[in-house]
Amino acid sequence: MILAPSLLSADFLHLEREIEMLNASEADWIHVDVMDGVFVPNISIGFPVIRALTKIAVKPLDAHLMIVNPEKFIPQFRDIGVQSLSVHYETCTHLHRTLMQIKEAGMKAGVVLNPHSPIKLLTDILVEADIALIMSVNPGFGGQKFISGSYEKVQQLRKMIDERGLHTLIEVDGGMNIERSKQMTEAGADIIVAGDSIFSAQNPLEMIRLIKKI
Ligand code: DX5
Ligand code: ZN
Repeated sequence: MILAPSLLSADFLHLEREIEMLNASEADWIHVDVMDGVFVPNISIGFPVIRALTKIAVKPLDAHLMIVNPEKFIPQFRDIGVQSLSVHYETCTHLHRTLMQIKEAGMKAGVVLNPHSPIKLLTDILVEADIALIMSVNPGFGGQKFISGSYEKVQQLRKMIDERGLHTLIEVDGGMNIERSKQMTEAGADIIVAGDSIFSAQNPLEMIRLIKKI
């Protein structure tokens, strides 16, 4: 299982310390949430902050774009050195073209589904997606309650990927803790994103270790 701690719940006043903690941890990727206040009712971080953290981060950056017109920013994310770039199904009129552009730029291309979007929407695009990210909360904030129907969605997606012999990685984001991570990997998830459960733990390093151990 790939564990990608979400920086959204990190202590932004001490971001250097937080990245160094992740560098020293068993975490695999660093999940970076980008919000525009339009697609989601919140605004998070943008290029200046992400560029700064790439100077010290030794783990691949997994960017999750919760913004309208994400295709406009593909070159900037490539230049900054992001390894995977995921865009919401709900924001892309020409999703196929956008995923192709992300891959042509040399990044892993991900498609994200909101909790209300059914798995069947991925039928024709899955073959082009390196990652399919299932939101298990409504995007916009850390620390929200896991939406239980997400479990069945991951099971359905696992089935669709396996039946078609695809290699798309399943990522789950929102409300993940040790127990949920276990359930979701059993349901077929490959990548677990966790924010609040890691950064508000007494010992985030140990929490990362425990989630990785499940
Ligand atoms: C929500 C973000 C998530 C969030 C997850 O919009 O996409 O990545 O940080 O945080 P937790 O794990 O606290 O639900
Ligand atoms: Zn996210």
